[in-house]
Amino acid sequence: MSMISPINTQRRHILCLAAAAPFALSSAKTAHAVPTSETAAMTNPVLACNGAPALKPLPFDPAKLNGLSERLIRSHWENNYGGSVKALAVTKKHLTEAMAAPDTPPYLYNQLKREHLLRTGSVVLHEYYFDNLGGSNQADAGSRKTLADAFGSFDAWETEFRRMGLGLGGGSGWVVLGFNTHTGLLENYWMADHAHGPIATQPILVMDMYEHSYQMDYGAAAAKYVDAFFQNIQWEAVARRLEAHRVTA
Ligand SMILES: [Fe+2]
Repeated sequence: MSMISPINTQRRHILCLAAAAPFALSSAKTAHAVPTSETAAMTNPVLACNGAPALKPLPFDPAKLNGLSERLIRSHWENNYGGSVKALAVTKKHLTEAMAAPDTPPYLYNQLKREHLLRTGSVVLHEYYFDNLGGSNQADAGSRKTLADAFGSFDAWETEFRRMGLGLGGGSGWVVLGFNTHTGLLENYWMADHAHGPIATQPILVMDMYEHSYQMDYGAAAAKYVDAFFQNIQWEAVARRLEAHRVTA
C-alpha cells in the first residue's frame, strides 16, 4: 500500500525536486513551477520522481476521522482516486499516440477525449473532497455568514446540501457547493457523475456520493455517511476557497 502522509502537494513537489540532479532542479523551476494556489495544484498534477503520476497525499491522518474508518478512507484514496489518477495518465498517453497517427478515426479519438473528461473530473473532485475532510465541522463565522447571505440561513444551506446527498444515496454522483463566476451565485449543485459539472463554477465544498465512499462502513445506509461527512468537514478549506474566489460576506 502506498504511504499516505499529511503533507501537501507543494511539499510533495519540493521533495521530488530536492532529489533530482542540480540541472534537473534548475530546469524544473521554469518548466514545472510550484503551484501558487490550491486550484493550480489541483489542475496541474505533479509526477513522482520516477515519472509515474503521483497521488496527492491526504491532508489529514485517515485513522483520526470521526465515523469514517481508516480502511474506508485509505481504500477510497488508493483505489478510486488513485485509479483515476493512473487512468488519466494512461488516457493522455493514448491521446498523444492517437493524435500522432493520421489514420485515427475521429470518433475513436473522441472516445479517448470522453475518458479524458471523466477522469479529469474524478481526479479534481476527489482532491477537493479529501481536502475538505479532516476537520471537526466547526464552521468559522465568515463562512457561516457567507452561506447565510446566499441561502437565507446557514441551516437552510445545510438542509439542502444534506437532502441532495440523500437523494443520491444508492446511486452515484456528487454534491457540490459552488460559486458560479458567471452568475455570481453561491449554490448547491447536483452532479450525476464526474463529467457534468455546472459551467463556470468553482467548487467550495464537495461531497462524494458514489457508494464506494461509504459502503464499506455503512452498507447502503447513505444517511449515516452524510452525517459522518458533516462531522468531518474541514471548514478551513472551505474558508480558503471562499477567500480565493472573493466570495465573502
Ligand atoms: Fe470517490
